[in-house]
Amino acid sequence: KTLLHTIYPDFQLGVAINNSSYFESSSEYNSLLKHFNSFVFENSMKMDAMQPSEGEFNFNNAKKMIKFAKDNDSVVRGHTLLWHSQYPYWFFTDKSGKKVDKDTLLKRIETHIKTIAGELKGDINTWDVVNEVLAENGTLRESQYYDIIGSDEYIEMAFRWARESDPKAKLFINDYGISRKGPKQDGLYNLVKSMLDRGVPIDGVGFQTHINLNYPSVEDIRKSIKRFAALGLDVQITELDISVYKSDNEPKKEITEEILLEQAYRYKSLFDMFKEEAALGNLSNVTIWGLTDDKSWLNDFPVKGRENAPLFFDGNLKEKTVYTALVNPE
Ligand code: XIL
Repeated sequence: KTLLHTIYPDFQLGVAINNSSYFESSSEYNSLLKHFNSFVFENSMKMDAMQPSEGEFNFNNAKKMIKFAKDNDSVVRGHTLLWHSQYPYWFFTDKSGKKVDKDTLLKRIETHIKTIAGELKGDINTWDVVNEVLAENGTLRESQYYDIIGSDEYIEMAFRWARESDPKAKLFINDYGISRKGPKQDGLYNLVKSMLDRGVPIDGVGFQTHINLNYPSVEDIRKSIKRFAALGLDVQITELDISVYKSDNEPKKEITEEILLEQAYRYKSLFDMFKEEAALGNLSNVTIWGLTDDKSWLNDFPVKGRENAPLFFDGNLKEKTVYTALVNPE
């Protein structure tokens, strides 16, 4: 079987691994992982997993992942140092449950980042330093970070602390809904531009790219990549999945061969564009958010009972039409 990453040598081809399946020693599962040369944990390197209680860090999963990647000549994406979701319950409050002040929160952020990025120094190819810090209208998301700190200072400092701790890792800002022009993309653009002007060490922008059959168009995504590349930044597609539905609220339908073919064409035209942008030096990594459809995070979301079938392999670990489309040049 042709390995997918060999078809696209211009960028790293990644997959998000679900911790439990990763530890299954199924050789069939592991042979599917050979299609990829970049790995990211779907959940196991988030804040709650890394520092469940204050000062108590858990590096077991991260280190297993790093070893697995090394054994397979692959790289690791670290996802994610800071996020408003999947954080440990203690992070924003003191012992009595009261909101902490700005200095305390900044200190906690500093410790979290320096401890993790420092311990894993040299072994993480790219860190998502911050995840989803923007609101839909392009202003900063009103998260607990923003609520307590009141400015983008925590974002700037997060990048500085990450750089100090692991000077070789690429440092990324990651978000969704930014791969086509609009207020959110503009907000991100202004934020990264002002960070660059201030000398903040940021290397690139991660487009999550949870998309559907129709939107955004391949050309809109290309223009978005070019827009950030023109700032001298690297772009990565960090969480790609293409639902077989045309919108978030389309009701459940039968997933026919025809629909799977349409999905395969969409993946193929997207990958043709990725290849061109990577050859231009604008794009370095494309990561698929999961391996098999049955375990996709999109099942039941946003429509209960709806399977979105957005990935490359089905629940029986069999390759879907998209695989054939990607390995065949025509
Ligand atoms: C998702 C995981 O896939 C799920 O298993 C988990 O329950 C919730 O988080 N944006 C991100 C990812 O940056 O971390 C999210 O991952 C999907 C949306």
